[in-house]
Amino acid sequence: MYLSREEEGIYQGEQGETLHRMMEILVALGDIYGAEQLIPVKSVQIAGVSYKNIGEAGLEWILDLQGRVAVPSVLNPAGMDLFRWREMGISEEFASKQQETIEAYRRLGVTIDCTCTPYQIYDHLANRGDHLAWSESSAVSYANSVIGARTNREGGPSALAAALIGKTALYGYHLDENRRPTHLVEVDADLRGSDFGALGFLVGGIVKDGVPFFRLSGRPSNDELRTLGAAMAASGSVALYYVEDVTPTPPSGTEPKERLVLGRKDIDEVYEKYPGSDADIVALGCPHCSRLELERIAKLLLGQRVKKELWICTARKIAESCPDLVAKIEAAGAKVLCDTCMVVSPATEGFHKMMVNSGKALVYLPGLGGVSAGFGSTEQCIDVALGRN
Ligand code: F3S
Repeated sequence: MYLSREEEGIYQGEQGETLHRMMEILVALGDIYGAEQLIPVKSVQIAGVSYKNIGEAGLEWILDLQGRVAVPSVLNPAGMDLFRWREMGISEEFASKQQETIEAYRRLGVTIDCTCTPYQIYDHLANRGDHLAWSESSAVSYANSVIGARTNREGGPSALAAALIGKTALYGYHLDENRRPTHLVEVDADLRGSDFGALGFLVGGIVKDGVPFFRLSGRPSNDELRTLGAAMAASGSVALYYVEDVTPTPPSGTEPKERLVLGRKDIDEVYEKYPGSDADIVALGCPHCSRLELERIAKLLLGQRVKKELWICTARKIAESCPDLVAKIEAAGAKVLCDTCMVVSPATEGFHKMMVNSGKALVYLPGLGGVSAGFGSTEQCIDVALGRN
């Protein structure tokens, strides 16, 4: 891989041990994937935040780094709400390790927004055509597909390397040749809300790491696109998709080779296969809830009281932007949790079954969260939380 004189100097250790090690990571990835050069990135989103996932070895690796990030950098969800962790049943020991992890990132100049939806709170992180180094799979999918930016799905160390150097290796989804649709997916059904999670759950399982091009009968909202992309990134490893007449268009002159046709029956089968009425906890906000979603949840809960634990996960800045909505949701006995999510927190371990409206959480909860999962619409989830089922 070609390195400029400055990059070569960093690689040789002229700017210290940390940058030397970070450059080694970027060069190693570039060599593996055949990158010709490095490219500057506009922003970085770093996974490897929950102490549950990184453990002591990960924390020590971060603590060992010196210097400051070179570009705006934010974090993925942590293992707990950074302020209300006691209400989640998190132990003092875990909380102390999690706070140490957060402080280690803060010392490197990373902004402490722990969310998989940073694009909901900041406009400057990603715009059409920007090159990024983002980690969390639903954020990567949204950035590539809906925003029209360009990012590979970075691991924790490679994202941190990109943050400290300000560059990433030019390969994968940074290049037009890898952004061409592989599958045409025609959906003959009117879909709404969690239906897009079911659709993503199905399509990701079929196309794996392909690039689906959807022809839908309606126009999905941005929240529905998030839901779709998150599910496909979990059941498959889709990092980029297109929706005809909705998202930015693919590079010209390419036609998908495969074709899938799905209908209402296929979507309904996902709900039937994963019932959630016997769940002992309900969790919404995977990916982190938007303000519109919080509004909807507040409306559904109005004047009622939950009978089961109900968690609503969102970005702290979203919750802070609408304290009235948060108060309304919590007046029903639900918990609005920030900085964390139902998949990366150890708090799920005390439960038996979690009902979700997210195709991504449906895939990940049994393995990563240690609970079985049921799937339903937002209304069905709230009904279960209210004990109406
Ligand atoms: Fe976000 Fe956690 Fe879901 S990181 S996409 S809420 S699994």
